[in-house]
Amino acid sequence: MSVISREVHLIKRPDGMPVAGDFSIVEREVDDPAEGEVLVRNVYMSVDPAMRPPLTNGQTKLNETMGGGAIGKIVASRHPSLAEGDYVQHRFGFREYFTSNGEGLAKVTTDGEPLTTHMHVLGGTGFTAWGGLLITGQLKEGENVFVSAAAGAVGSVAAQIAKIKNCRVVGSAGSDEKVRYLVEELGLDYAFNYKNGSIARELHIGLPDGIDVYFDNVGGAHLDAAVGQMRALGRIPICGMISAYNNKGARSEGVTTLANMIYNRVTMRGFVVYEFNDRRDEFLADMRQWIADGKLKYRETIMEGIEQAPHALIGLLHGDNIGKMLVRLSEE
Ligand SMILES: NC(=O)c1ccc[n+]([C@@H]2O[C@H](COP(=O)([O-])OP(=O)(O)OC[C@H]3O[C@@H](n4cnc5c(N)ncnc54)[C@H](OP(=O)(O)O)[C@@H]3O)[C@@H](O)[C@H]2O)c1
Repeated sequence: MSVISREVHLIKRPDGMPVAGDFSIVEREVDDPAEGEVLVRNVYMSVDPAMRPPLTNGQTKLNETMGGGAIGKIVASRHPSLAEGDYVQHRFGFREYFTSNGEGLAKVTTDGEPLTTHMHVLGGTGFTAWGGLLITGQLKEGENVFVSAAAGAVGSVAAQIAKIKNCRVVGSAGSDEKVRYLVEELGLDYAFNYKNGSIARELHIGLPDGIDVYFDNVGGAHLDAAVGQMRALGRIPICGMISAYNNKGARSEGVTTLANMIYNRVTMRGFVVYEFNDRRDEFLADMRQWIADGKLKYRETIMEGIEQAPHALIGLLHGDNIGKMLVRLSEE
């Protein structure tokens, strides 16, 4: 007996900020699993900024099902090692059902924690924050740290890890509600709404002695302001450039302050989360401990139903989320 799966297709390449009309929800019949296969019903899908540049650069194909991180439940199995009821993590999101021979599916083993945490604090965004700050950023106890997009999935974890390491931490975000969340709930030392005025001035207020580590999620004007205020031997782990993702080629605004990298011998290095893979056990142990101790908190912004998936992606780019942006596709 086959099932009907609703899936998200890109039907038009966006120019600038995507709009709902660039996407369409398409129904497709998914057959029963053949011998050696499973049928997966997706439960949660991840919505990530990195999905935006491929909409324009051609990597996301027109009129095909979009990919993306997700967790699904196996609802029928003819596979030797994947059983009905198992949860699996994979890149076949933006659809309700699919069959698979098991390639690209990783079993999710929970230790009493909510399933969704494997999509943020215990998953890719948490790992990005942990590795970017501690490995690429070489964070040391007590340093001065600035995190942009600090109320988002990666940023909120990076900012809290820096607090756990006894740093003075300043965060930027795009609304007063997010600024309150950063200071009142996450315990940052200072936070500001970058839409309200000069980022450079806010950094002078929050970190008058300068910045040792700038965890950059945004690029553009944020990077310009931060580079100019880096201290001697400061580090800038470049995590993301969301301010540029709606531009062709993800070209960012110019950074005019690079001379300070010479004067203060600053290191700027881009990184991608997979380069930390050999440290995954250490990451998970740290995060589980910090969550259990109440030192690391998280929020989720969850939209309901596959028809909301395009709105979730557009909303993410507008800053509608606090913490991780997810779409719930079905009951656990
Ligand atoms: N290197 C890696 O391996 C890796 C892995 C995962 C993610 N990333 C990067 O990490 C960054 C954060 O990703 P995430 O998944 O945690 O997303 P997120 O921060 O949860 O969501 C994106 C946030 O970016 C902010 N934003 C949007 N446009 C902006 C602009 N023009 N200027 C400043 N802020 C803007 C919005 O918040 P506001 O309301 O604050 O504007 C929005 O909530 C992204 O750049 C992403 O590409 C990198």
